[in-house]
Amino acid sequence: MSPLRKKLIAGNWKMNKTSADGVALVQEIVAAAGKQTEVDVVVCPPFTALESVGRVLEGSGVRLGAQNVHPEASGAYTGEISVGMLRALFASYVILGHSERRSYFQESDSFINQKVIASLKGQLKPILCVGETLGQREAGETLRVVQTQLEAGLEGVGKDQIASVVIAYEPVWAIGTGKVATTEQAQQVHAFIRSLLTKSYGENAAEKVRILYGGSMKPANAPELLAQRDIDGGLIGGASLESRSFLELVAAASAVR
Ligand code: 13P
Repeated sequence: MSPLRKKLIAGNWKMNKTSADGVALVQEIVAAAGKQTEVDVVVCPPFTALESVGRVLEGSGVRLGAQNVHPEASGAYTGEISVGMLRALFASYVILGHSERRSYFQESDSFINQKVIASLKGQLKPILCVGETLGQREAGETLRVVQTQLEAGLEGVGKDQIASVVIAYEPVWAIGTGKVATTEQAQQVHAFIRSLLTKSYGENAAEKVRILYGGSMKPANAPELLAQRDIDGGLIGGASLESRSFLELVAAASAVR
């Protein structure tokens, strides 16, 4: 744990919740955790619920994030959403390079990098996801894969910008499977990510970057994960869809602060 890094709990709702369902969920989150300041809390609804959810978050400490963005500012990109559009809805974070986007939508490291650069330019904080598949882990390629995704994703990001970036380590085999990485497995990769950041940006900057764990994080396994030196929070899928489990995760992060 580091005094330089406040824990961050981010909910990735993925393709779940209508606008009305999202409002109901964040009303409960804001009522219970809207005023606490010990943990940074972010919710990332689908695009169609950003505006309505954002209205509920107004005046609370809970921040709004999107699940994707297009690198161009405007133009003929049917179906896409720009950084400026998200900022106009007061989004402050954006999830980039999620493994579901990498695998189902063939997003490459260089395209993800363009999004990272555009987001930072537009004052949107990227949550850059990296992580290996089961096959890659079994082949002993975990660190190589994570290094490639991290370095390619951060290409051109300056020393003055890196503290605005959040990294999420999400082993693909742990996402939505109920199989959580052991604390040792997770801490090893988190420490490796921080060592790479230290090499590129220096120790002071690297110590400020939050590295989240994602992949079947639940109230039952969170305390142990969050107690690791280099695990600064969680990117939560399934357990973020219900206020009770999400709030328990916020409480768990607050307890290890
Ligand atoms: P689960 O928490 O459902 O495993 O999802 C993790 C994830 O992909 C968050 O981005």
